Amino acid sequence: MALASVELTERTGSELRVDKAALLSGEFVQDIRSLLVQRGVLIVRDIHFTDEEQRAFARSLGDLRLGTVKQEGDEGLLKVTFDEKVNPEYAKFFFGSQLWHMDGTYEEVPPFATILTPRVLSETGGQTEFANNYAAYEDLPEAERTQLDRLKVIHTMQAALFPGKPDCTVEEFALWHSYPNREHPLVWQHRSGRKSLVLSTSASHITGMHPAESRYLLQRLMVHAAQPRYVYRHNWRMGDLLIWDNTGTMHRVLPFPPESGRQLHRFTLNGEEGVTAVG
Ligand code: OGA
Ligand code: MN
Repeated sequence: MALASVELTERTGSELRVDKAALLSGEFVQDIRSLLVQRGVLIVRDIHFTDEEQRAFARSLGDLRLGTVKQEGDEGLLKVTFDEKVNPEYAKFFFGSQLWHMDGTYEEVPPFATILTPRVLSETGGQTEFANNYAAYEDLPEAERTQLDRLKVIHTMQAALFPGKPDCTVEEFALWHSYPNREHPLVWQHRSGRKSLVLSTSASHITGMHPAESRYLLQRLMVHAAQPRYVYRHNWRMGDLLIWDNTGTMHRVLPFPPESGRQLHRFTLNGEEGVTAVG
């Protein structure tokens, strides 16, 4: 049977029409993986996965990332929340997720994909937005693409987090600063042959470029890539399942009251290829 799906916007996001049993059967793994990298984000309504089901589904799609959370029995499970009682480590950095970002830009091989389900929702706000960085690249004029193809960008934790907390303490800034930096090509030539912009709030500066020029270029590209025509906004409902391709999209969470207790359960799939420059 073919995998049924409908497009949510022209360039980004598809909704799968499939039930829980079919998702867990493994029958659609290849279809889901290939649609995921075409559409950037996939959603399924009314699935109501348990943690075990979500983990098994994640495992069927790729290489499950372990060890992100220390809690016993929570193999690979990350609780995404502002609530320090639930996940003190994550709560410390989660405010940074309100700016457009890719996860794991500090790693040589950034995570491939992430699988989310909601457990507590906020009555207002808290939508998650996804921007398609393949489409944003493909729409640039050819002469500009050729120039961008040669550039490299330094990603840092302080670049990512300072804009979200400009009144941080010196100690907070020093902590962010203590994390390793990572240089990646600005344009990722994926194994699939497609190219995408590697943009994120973590993008600090372009290697070897004058700081003013570098700043304006990164800001201009971010404004370009975050235009509504590349963005899908997900309005969460209990029972949802959402998967995003972290290699070719950016994401951000829209503001919501922290006291809502909003909580998503997340499993992450390890990357399968490093960020490779255009050859
Ligand atoms: C994340 C993230 C956004 C959200 O889990 O990496 O950015 O909507 N989450 O919670
Ligand atoms: Mn994130």
